[in-house]
Amino acid sequence: MRRRILVTHALPYANGALHFGHVFESVQTDIWVRFMKMRGHDCLFCCAEDAHGTPIMIRAQQEGVTPEALIERTAQDHRRDYQELLIGFDEFHSTHSQENRRLTAQLYATLREAGYVRRQQIRQAYDEPAGMFLPDRYIRGTCPRCHSPDQYGDSCEVCGSTYSPAELIEPRSTLSDTRPVWRDSEHLFFRLGAFEPMLRAYIDSGSLQPGVRAKLAEWFEAGLQDWDISRDAPYFGFEVPDAPGKYFYVWFDAPIGYIASFERWRARQSGAGAETFDAYWRSEQATELYHFIGKDITYFHTLFWPAVLHGAGLRRPTAVFAHGFLTINGQKMSKSRGTFITARRYLDRLPAEPLRYYFAAKLGSGIEDVDFSADDFVARVNADLIGKLVNIASRCAAFIGRGGGQLAAALPDPALYAQFAGAAIRIAELYEAREYAAAVREIMTLADEANRYIDRSKPWVLAREPARASEVRAIATQGLNLFRVLMSYLAPVLPGMAQRSAAFLGVPFESWEAVSEPLLASPIKAYEPLATRLDPAAVAALIEPPANATPAHATTAAKVPAGATAPAAEPALIGIEQFAKLDLRVAHVEQAELVEGSDKLLKLTLRVGAEQRTVFSGIRASYPRPEQLIGRQVVLVANLAPRKMRFGVSQGMVLCASGEQGSGVYLLSVDAGAADGMRVS
Ligand code: 2FM
Ligand code: ZN
Repeated sequence: MRRRILVTHALPYANGALHFGHVFESVQTDIWVRFMKMRGHDCLFCCAEDAHGTPIMIRAQQEGVTPEALIERTAQDHRRDYQELLIGFDEFHSTHSQENRRLTAQLYATLREAGYVRRQQIRQAYDEPAGMFLPDRYIRGTCPRCHSPDQYGDSCEVCGSTYSPAELIEPRSTLSDTRPVWRDSEHLFFRLGAFEPMLRAYIDSGSLQPGVRAKLAEWFEAGLQDWDISRDAPYFGFEVPDAPGKYFYVWFDAPIGYIASFERWRARQSGAGAETFDAYWRSEQATELYHFIGKDITYFHTLFWPAVLHGAGLRRPTAVFAHGFLTINGQKMSKSRGTFITARRYLDRLPAEPLRYYFAAKLGSGIEDVDFSADDFVARVNADLIGKLVNIASRCAAFIGRGGGQLAAALPDPALYAQFAGAAIRIAELYEAREYAAAVREIMTLADEANRYIDRSKPWVLAREPARASEVRAIATQGLNLFRVLMSYLAPVLPGMAQRSAAFLGVPFESWEAVSEPLLASPIKAYEPLATRLDPAAVAALIEPPANATPAHATTAAKVPAGATAPAAEPALIGIEQFAKLDLRVAHVEQAELVEGSDKLLKLTLRVGAEQRTVFSGIRASYPRPEQLIGRQVVLVANLAPRKMRFGVSQGMVLCASGEQGSGVYLLSVDAGAADGMRVS
């Protein structure tokens, strides 16, 4: 049955270059779309620039250009990158478009009339010199919990606690470096709570991955909060029709941009009227709708977005496919380490397809993080793509060329061909389930089989005897037919190579079923290399820190979501002499207690050699039963200046691991054998 499918991936912000995280997500989505098209489905891939919001407005101001000029310039760069990455969008539009303005106003009006929008006065930080309200990320100050300086307005990256900007000690606006004042303003709230029964049923309907469902269960547990969908002027976005001076929050109109992009596509189709809109956006049966996203924006896509759609009388996504973060050589992307690789940096040095292949070889359907390792990248591409796949074609092509450029009329080993062609069903299931790594493994196992066939048939030995020319041609025909099957299976991953192979073999790679029959007695063209080996030096150069890398804006360390927001800056590199200034010691937890009046802190009494120390640590959320910590060894920063806190003096800090916000804080352990007071280095 021919299915009608609409696919999107997260819209890139229109104020920054595409980086490897974006590329990872685009490739994942593009492979799926190309596969669905090969299966003969009516599959549409729509995307757009995410063009609104404070960061875009501020960036444009800093550059002395209009936001419109900034988003246009960025869009051009993005388009060029996507094109060279072979991302086959059917439509690429912008959230700052007339379609999106119309749809955003329409959805809002429907939600408001249905009683899903309420108004509420809220207090917010206001920057007087800049003349604007400040998003939490534009306020920095001292953490109210652990007193670490220079923390964001909503969360502390040292102790992991979250708080309201009003609690921040010595707050400063990052725009004017002045102390913000507090002002009231009326905002519009979307009543998310009203959709809880619908959302619970939706989530149980199997639209989400297990890891995502677990996260949602936590959110339901915590209670669904109404969502502030408005921002005060000045703001770059759409003004709210019935609230002058208020603008729709960027995250309200961004997913509506999916529909706007579709609308733009529809306008370009002849005969696609209102019924086409209804088939895609009103019926959950007529069309399947899938959003590929990074796991960091799950909340928006699995709660807000289905609720907004449902409240506005539109269909909900059939499924949301979240993926994990992309790390580079085992670490989060970092400008100072040179691992913040932009698409452009890559494309200026290397072709897109090896990277597409590598991402495919690592991608599964889960939300686990995926690592790009430079050495593994070179090894896999050269061993698999060149050493196995391309090798089959290049080994066989010459024998056909010598034999008049025509394939033999029959295969010497039809059973082997049938085995290859028969794998189509299993491999299709894996692609459909987004288990690309498993699909690639199956394909490469077949490639080994094909190479073994050529090895044992030894056409180069037979070719020395002119009388056996037709035997040689038959073997080469078999080899090229096996190659054709494998190339067909990899066509969603390697569309450029598939195209070059199509020119060589004289048949297109457009249909998944085409390889059920072998290619016989047909002419082929002279063989041109389909791909070349990766040069390890060129790959290494991707990761070299830029010569002018300044560890400037350097105190933040947020994990980089693949294909989503631009990464936060990284801690600066330090020398060994700076590291040596830290006096890290093994400490023994003698006592661990809750702190009355604090829901974040634990009071730890530590034995450090002959000394006893008291340390207040913001780890309560992860260790609600502190007595369990008694007897453990931890790592203490022993020469941290004592800090006076509301509950007493903290004499040092214990080291913890923490990830993205909300993922918890975990004490570091020490292996058996280490004694209290030992130096950690
Ligand atoms: O996180 C981001 O990069 C957003 N620009 C993604 C938006 S996706 C959609 F909702 F529009
Ligand atoms: Zn803190």
